[in-house]
Amino acid sequence: MKIAISNDHGGINLKIALKKYLDDKGIEYIDYGYNAGGEPNPDYPDYAMPACEAIVNGTCDLGILICGTGIGMSIAANKVPGIRCGHTHDTFSARMTRIHNHANMIAFGERVIGEGVMCDIVEAFINATPADGRHLRRVEKITAIEQKYSK
Ligand code: RB5
Repeated sequence: MKIAISNDHGGINLKIALKKYLDDKGIEYIDYGYNAGGEPNPDYPDYAMPACEAIVNGTCDLGILICGTGIGMSIAANKVPGIRCGHTHDTFSARMTRIHNHANMIAFGERVIGEGVMCDIVEAFINATPADGRHLRRVEKITAIEQKYSK
């Protein structure tokens, strides 16, 4: 499994902690995010997009986005056809957005949660398996909406 990670200036510190967590677990990732010393006020959509594209084009399997709140990154990500990004700050939601919504990305905020909760959220997300049946049917309806408005 390869994870696309990205962040804006509001998520640098949690991104560093995330990379340490993934390194310790031996999980591969590509960092598309902003790093200290770059432009002073980067725009979160610019950093969400490369990670989303890595998932859509098959370079990565799942994605993790971090900004101040996780909201801007998740809104931007969910505009990309094929991306289902859950905005989550708890382990239950992180697991369920993978199982029920077939989320292929999650987003959270460095100004909202700390490193410990973040690691638990990531673990819950990457270890969950998308469910078939009625959940797949609902995800297919989301895809149909996406296609309808993608003209
Ligand atoms: C940056 O100040 C902040 O707006 C951004 O990181 C994010 O929280 C947006 O949703």
